[in-house]
Amino acid sequence: MKYDRRKFIEFLGKASLGTLIIPPFLVSCGNTTTPIKNKQIANETFKRLKNIAVENLAPTTKDDLVLTKGLNYHTIIKWGDSISNNDTFGFNNDFTCFIPLDKNNPKDGLLWVNHESVNSLFVCDFDENNYENPQKQRTKKQVDKEMYNVGGSIVRIREVNGQWKVVHNDPHNRRITGKTPIKLNWDTSIKGVSTVMGTNSNCSGGITPWNTFISCEENYDGFWGETRYDENNTATYIPSDHGWEHFYNAPPEHYGWVVEINPKDGTAQKHVALGRFSHECCTLYELADKRVVAYSGDDSNDEHLYKFVSSKPNSLKEGTLYVADTINGKWLPLDWETQPVLKDKFKDQTEVLIRAREASKLLGATPLNRPEDIEIDPITGHIFITLTNNKPKNDYHGSILKIEETNGAFDALTFKVSIYKAGGEENGFSCPDNLAFDMAGNLWMTSDISGSSMNKPDKPYMPFKNNSLFVIPRYGKDAGKVIRVASAPTDAELTGPWFSPDGKTLFLSVQHPGDETKDIKNPTSKFPFDADGIPKPTVVAIQGDLIEKMNFLKQIESS
Ligand code: FEO
Ligand code: CA
Ligand code: CA
Repeated sequence: MKYDRRKFIEFLGKASLGTLIIPPFLVSCGNTTTPIKNKQIANETFKRLKNIAVENLAPTTKDDLVLTKGLNYHTIIKWGDSISNNDTFGFNNDFTCFIPLDKNNPKDGLLWVNHESVNSLFVCDFDENNYENPQKQRTKKQVDKEMYNVGGSIVRIREVNGQWKVVHNDPHNRRITGKTPIKLNWDTSIKGVSTVMGTNSNCSGGITPWNTFISCEENYDGFWGETRYDENNTATYIPSDHGWEHFYNAPPEHYGWVVEINPKDGTAQKHVALGRFSHECCTLYELADKRVVAYSGDDSNDEHLYKFVSSKPNSLKEGTLYVADTINGKWLPLDWETQPVLKDKFKDQTEVLIRAREASKLLGATPLNRPEDIEIDPITGHIFITLTNNKPKNDYHGSILKIEETNGAFDALTFKVSIYKAGGEENGFSCPDNLAFDMAGNLWMTSDISGSSMNKPDKPYMPFKNNSLFVIPRYGKDAGKVIRVASAPTDAELTGPWFSPDGKTLFLSVQHPGDETKDIKNPTSKFPFDADGIPKPTVVAIQGDLIEKMNFLKQIESS
């Protein structure tokens, strides 16, 4: 019998739509979700699903983007490419997402890409490892180059004959940089201003139910330093690694926020209500009454998991920020008014939000092993959180945490927690980072073993070789197994997995190839193999039979 997607969807509609938890905005933008449950799939369909086979790629140290059988890729854009007459694509692409301009045409839309960090050797020729003439401090010109290459890019792309191409100089194409003015979505100013200079450290992100981009500021202290407080509540400034503060006057308190970007005009705002910390990501869910729930992890050893629940429709300002007590399954409100312990320490709610890490500890939040990406299972509504690792606590390989909100209510104040999958040799992965569910509910995952630990004989990461992309199939004989489907070039990590609305393309970033390079004339990677031999962070489109079969877009052969 021939597989017919239209009939399958019709079947699903009749059988199960009413009973499932589906993030409606994700369906409309096509990122994820087809509403199905194993037990609700007709026997005949299930028989065919059993025959999905994914070939596990052996770990490799090859300096290339190596793909398993049934996948192919082409490059969409890379660092330094011109996107308009004024702008070029930034460095170290992380979160990558696509919103179609017209929801009826999945092949034409806007790509948002975060530019998380810069490798100063490549971006501005700053070389602290040059033994003859080590540079101690960046010049203003070097800092300006770095500030231009962080932030994010909006680029219009179109698929023509199966190949995604940039629409050069499209009016939507623009850069958000370390200097773009960005408003604070808050009623009081922070360090005297309500519009701050730029964004940086943009790691992972998300989209809103109203189809704007979300970009999260993670390791901002590397660019702007940090304010630390001692037991007497006395503040000390800790300088940054990159030394931007030598040339520009911006306090650390202007960074570490969740940023929202309007795709149409590039205007941006920072959402103070969601707290300030090393935001890895922010994953939003729209409740039936249009209030919003936003989950976010603080990617640092022993930091916390947060959720914001808005009190008004479509608001990322009015509402309550909670932090997770995963021991007792409770969301603890970071609310100055109702928490005496916060009133004793901080002068107002704004200070609680700026110093969210300290406030969380006062409330008894549970320290976690570097919470990174968060995705909501489109079929069960469970929340999956990657915990990358926590080396001082001897957790080298991390895990995937699963949270089940009480009664499946995303605004619940209690939850159940369990480990979905542990990293390590038994499961074939280490240091889980980004997650993405495809249209059929298969879970895709990237790994981030740090460059200084990867493929090093004295470290426990040798068996895993280069960072990779994995899939955990939902159906078939390999259901629940972690299968390696792509391996990254030398020193790189694969980031920002995001499916096109038709489910046929997986957009993926190849971040920091050649990151351990000490001599620019002899880089550790040459990916994407340009004539100049310089490694470049690159966004690719992965396509092929395997993706189409896993998304039920193609007939699955009977065995
Ligand atoms: Fe930017 Fe936590 O990875
Ligand atoms: Ca990450
Ligand atoms: Ca990372």
